[in-house]
Amino acid sequence: MIKIVLIGAGNVAFHLCQAFKNSENTKVVQIFNRTLENIAVFPESIDKTNSYTKLKEADIYIIAVSDDSVSMVSENFLLNNKLVVHTSGSVAMKTLSDKNRKGVFYPLQSFSKSRKVDFSEIPICVEASEEKDLELLKVLGKSISEKVVVINSEERKRLHLSAVIVNNFVNYLYQVGSNLLEEEALSFDLLKPLIKETALKIESLPPFEAQTGPAKRNDKKTIEKHLHLLKDSPYKKLYAEMTEAILREYSILDNN
Ligand SMILES: NC(=O)c1ccc[n+]([C@@H]2O[C@H](COP(=O)([O-])OP(=O)(O)OC[C@H]3O[C@@H](n4cnc5c(N)ncnc54)[C@H](OP(=O)(O)O)[C@@H]3O)[C@@H](O)[C@H]2O)c1
Repeated sequence: MIKIVLIGAGNVAFHLCQAFKNSENTKVVQIFNRTLENIAVFPESIDKTNSYTKLKEADIYIIAVSDDSVSMVSENFLLNNKLVVHTSGSVAMKTLSDKNRKGVFYPLQSFSKSRKVDFSEIPICVEASEEKDLELLKVLGKSISEKVVVINSEERKRLHLSAVIVNNFVNYLYQVGSNLLEEEALSFDLLKPLIKETALKIESLPPFEAQTGPAKRNDKKTIEKHLHLLKDSPYKKLYAEMTEAILREYSILDNN
């Protein structure tokens, strides 16, 4: 049984706690959060504290706090030579305090407390400063997920960058689509089947092959019509730049 202390009570700590609770191989022995009220939603059976002096003995301490606070929180630990990991995609492992053994346990998914997640499908990216700790993190990852990968801090930075583009940027484009429809009192629901199909398509096709639309076809007339529709819109530049990027990706721009 791997004993875990969770530090933080946000989206990631909440979902990790559920996943560890559902596994036979793991036990969350304590949850720490600087604001006690915010841990009230966690299971009653788990010990809760907001004091660094009261941290329990565990095999792994998982810091799931805001990126900017990871370093400071790890410095606040009164423990020594324990395995302390963070859950961030963009924070280097070396950011953790030297007082303890370091590691990373980064679940590559977008988490919100209100949305259920199936952890078995979520890639868990692990890294550790010591070989035996890496092995333990792999075992921990496998107890909740079918996909555990060893990724170093440099690789993780690149992975996080890609994740932001395919998740946050794409979601922003949904917002742009929604705003444009709203101007004509049209419902965003009309776009949902298209959004779903676009997302599902990359299960069987690489993104390069899955691309369709006026830019991919180099359909200049339609592109001009769209730019005209957007002539007074803040999104005109975005449309032009995205179109140009697609033309460049398919080497269409160079031939014009
Ligand atoms: N959300 C995601 O989709 C996602 C996915 C993968 C990885 N991550 C990573 O997981 C980590 C946690 O993200 P999250 O989304 O769970 O965060 P979150 O929901 O915003 O929760 C932040 C947590 O950090 C605590 N905190 C903030 N500043 C602190 C400080 N100065 N000292 C002590 N505790 C502090 C907060 O405590 P209070 O309750 O007291 O405010 C809260 O428990 C981050 O490193 C993030 O990059 C997030």
